Amino acid sequence: MKTIFSGVQPTGVITLGNYIGAFMQFPSLQDEGNAIYCIVDQHAITVPQDPKELRSSIRTLAATYLATGIDPNKATLFIQSEVPAHAQAGWMLQCVATIGELERMTQFKDKSDGKESVTAGLLTYPPLMAGDILLYNTNIVPVGDDQKQHIELTRDLAERFNKRFGDVFVVPEIQLPKAGARIKSLQEPTKKMSKSDPNTKATIRFLDTPKQIEKKIKSAVTDSDGYVAFDEANKPGVSNLLTIESAVTGIDIPSLVQKYDGLGYGAFKEGVATSLIEHLEPIQHRFNELIESDELDKILDEGAEKANAIASKTITRMENAMGLGRKSR
Ligand code: TYM
Repeated sequence: MKTIFSGVQPTGVITLGNYIGAFMQFPSLQDEGNAIYCIVDQHAITVPQDPKELRSSIRTLAATYLATGIDPNKATLFIQSEVPAHAQAGWMLQCVATIGELERMTQFKDKSDGKESVTAGLLTYPPLMAGDILLYNTNIVPVGDDQKQHIELTRDLAERFNKRFGDVFVVPEIQLPKAGARIKSLQEPTKKMSKSDPNTKATIRFLDTPKQIEKKIKSAVTDSDGYVAFDEANKPGVSNLLTIESAVTGIDIPSLVQKYDGLGYGAFKEGVATSLIEHLEPIQHRFNELIESDELDKILDEGAEKANAIASKTITRMENAMGLGRKSR
């Protein structure tokens, strides 16, 4: 049986990019193997966070996982900081990674660009992420395209560790979604849709109201051609909207292009907004029921216990392999 592991940062409400790139892949995988999903709060503090908001985002994210289809009877859902093995593995893997390879990570370059001072944690984030994955003997990591480089580094660190200290880790594979591995900004459709974009019109949030969604899609940047076609290089805005509608409806892109044949961008955007609102409404409804329930705490407690049982065994194997402590355990 395969093990699946993925994590999402609790930094505000997730975007439509997170939803399509990651969350839409999660539920089907819990039927295919041992699926483990994590709220990676220790990753969130690599950049400044308001402690109260972080706590609230953790709960919001837990309810989001469940509302989007994670079944706690099939999958394990837990909070990273509640399983100490993550910080322990992160440290050991920092001592296997080199500063040079961490400085080459594009996310580090993007997030540190133009800043006078960034935390050491922002640089050493990828070995912590590698630890998250490797602790569970993970075979498959479902993520969006922006995590590709981090997964490649995870594979390199696992192989390097195995070579240096003996076979401890399973080397994981990335799994990208069939459509929507990189959902773009609605305002600058060559850039990815991002939680931290200061332009609120650029990003659809999972909890946006139908009115907000409609407004944002209507003001999405397209082009002046006036016809709907899929061409990412020359029509990035239109192609992004087609990708979004295809991901949430399951209708392939050529059929969608046909649907909008002869219609202008007004009707096209209205169609995309309607499909998206219809898809999100029942999920948002489930979210509102879950966020207040005590059930959530019980699920997270059980999840941490299950995760801890697996992860602490891997820590013992790592420490034994590296020679830490007085004797092998
Ligand atoms: P995070 O929290 O930034 O994003 C969560 C997931 O959403 C995907 N994603 C996107 N997919 C498509 N289009 C977009 N515009 C878009 N934006 C984000 C991401 O690829 C990701 O799958 N480092 C990770 C969290 C992490 C992790 C892990 C993931 C920590 N440990 C272990 C997998 C396994 C991150 O910051 O994701």
